[in-house]
Amino acid sequence: MDINGLSAIVTGGGSGLGAETARQLAAKGAKVALLDVNMEGANAVASEIGGLAIECDVTSDEGVASAIAQAQAAHGVARIVINAAGIAPAKRIIDREGNATSLDYFRKGIEINLVGAYNVMSKAAAEMSKVDPINDDNERGIVISTGSIATQEGQVGQASYSASKMGLMGMMLPAAREFTRFGIRVNTINPGVFETPMLTNMPQEVQDSLGKQVPFPVRLGTSDEYARLAIHMIENAYINGETIRLDGAMRMAAR
Ligand SMILES: NC(=O)c1ccc[n+]([C@@H]2O[C@H](COP(=O)([O-])OP(=O)(O)OC[C@H]3O[C@@H](n4cnc5c(N)ncnc54)[C@H](O)[C@@H]3O)[C@@H](O)[C@H]2O)c1
Repeated sequence: MDINGLSAIVTGGGSGLGAETARQLAAKGAKVALLDVNMEGANAVASEIGGLAIECDVTSDEGVASAIAQAQAAHGVARIVINAAGIAPAKRIIDREGNATSLDYFRKGIEINLVGAYNVMSKAAAEMSKVDPINDDNERGIVISTGSIATQEGQVGQASYSASKMGLMGMMLPAAREFTRFGIRVNTINPGVFETPMLTNMPQEVQDSLGKQVPFPVRLGTSDEYARLAIHMIENAYINGETIRLDGAMRMAAR
């Protein structure tokens, strides 16, 4: 799919992986709407790239419907959706006193990372399904969600995070199969450890230790590397119903 001139929605576009993907999409000529709860970040990226920042909590049914309508009024129907909004909850299932930790905590990770991505995908794909295809392959658009290598190697404390990201991977294939009749592709990127505020807010020793655990290149991944894979997935029509790990061969240890 040729990105130039298309409308794109990037959730979590106010920071990290989403922000850099928004920049690279804009550099390729896309009209980009950034959906985020972090308006400071979203406004900054929007003004940098000539995009549109829309305050939106991806877990809200009405909020996402309204944000997609606003993006559509400004840019036309989005053909590209990048689900990069997310949180990384970390808590053991049983605390040090032997009590089960809060159910709300587990739920929050599932709600934002999984239900939020489904919410945006379903509403954006419904709009895409109604408009004309854009090329000889009869493509109407693409949805890319952001999982994690914690799908397969979740560490102690990552029950909610890993379950939410595995859920994303799980829904990707049925979605890709359902949307074949509309020419909408669905893919997932599972990053390893990336240098974004999600990680740079952790103590420096933790970041250094994570970076050293990556076999090659021995460092954290960059937002540029994530964004370039997202761009390639959009441009390469044959990548569909697929999850690609982007991790420098990292396999996370138990803790
Ligand atoms: N950084 C990593 O190492 C790494 C590794 C694997 C997966 N990921 C995933 O990549 C995605 C992007 O993470 P990042 O590293 O860029 O983190 P980040 O914290 O820099 O950005 C995440 C963005 O999502 C937004 N967000 C959070 N909750 C939201 C909600 N309810 N509605 C709308 N926006 C919301 C935040 O405000 C923020 O702007 C996340 O899904 C994360 O789980 C990151």
